[in-house]
Amino acid sequence: MKKKWLIGNWKMHGNLASNKALVGGILAAVPSLHEQVSIAVCPPFPYLYQLAELTRDTYLGFGAQNVSDHLQGAYTGETSPLMVKELGGSYAIIGHSERRQYQGENDGLMGRKALAAIDAGLIPVICVGETAEERDSGRTHEVLARQLDAAFGYIRTAHDKIILAYEPRWAIGTGIAATPEIVQSEHEFLRQRIAIRDKAFAAKLPIVYGGSVKSSNAASIFSMPDVDGGLIGSAALNAQEFVTIYGELL
Ligand code: G3P
Repeated sequence: MKKKWLIGNWKMHGNLASNKALVGGILAAVPSLHEQVSIAVCPPFPYLYQLAELTRDTYLGFGAQNVSDHLQGAYTGETSPLMVKELGGSYAIIGHSERRQYQGENDGLMGRKALAAIDAGLIPVICVGETAEERDSGRTHEVLARQLDAAFGYIRTAHDKIILAYEPRWAIGTGIAATPEIVQSEHEFLRQRIAIRDKAFAAKLPIVYGGSVKSSNAASIFSMPDVDGGLIGSAALNAQEFVTIYGELL
C-alpha cells in the first residue's frame, strides 16, 4: 500500500474541553496506526500547546493552519513556523482558499510561506484549487498551474518534503465533494505539471484531496490512483466520522 496522509483542518472551531474529547475519541477508536498512514490535526493557534500535550507520545501529529513567511521579526500578529516546530508541530497548511478569500493572500505569498515552513522543518500542506466560476469558464488548469508554479518557484524539489492539497473551492464546506473522476483528473494534471520540473519528485509527491470529504464518499475518492489521502474540514470535528474516513484509506 502506498503511503497515505489524513489531515484534519479544525478551522476556527473547538475549545479546550472539546479538543481533549476529540483527540481522546480518535486515539480510543484507533489505538494504533497503520504503518503506511500518517494522521495529523491542525487546531486554531491558541490550542497548539494543548495539542502538543494531547498528542505527546502518540502517533497523532499536529500542525498549524497557517504560518508567517518570516521565521522571526517585527510582524505583529504573525506566527513563525519555528514556533510551531518548537512546540512539536510537524505540518503547516499553506494557501488555504479561505485565507486567499478572506485574508487576500496571493500565490507568491503562498510560495514564500511554504519555503519558510520547510526552512523551519515543517511539512507544508500547500493548497490549490479553483472557484466554481473558474471551473465553469474552463480555466481550472490555468488557475491550478498558476498557483502551483508560484509555490514551486520557491521550493527546492530535490529534497523538500511537501504535501500538495487539491481543494476545489466550490467543494469546500458545501457538502458536495468533487466526483472521484474530477479529483483523479486534477490530481493527475497537478502531478504531470510538477513532473515537468522533476519527474522523480512528482512521482513520490503526496497529493491529498479536500472538499466535503465524508465517511460516505471517502472510499470512492481515496480509491483513485493519484489520491494519497485527504485534508478534512467539518468531518474532522467528529471523532467517529474522522476515524471512519481513516478506515477508508486502508
Ligand atoms: O482544509 C480542508 C477544508 O477546506 C475542507 O473543508 O468542511 O469541506 O471538509 P470541508
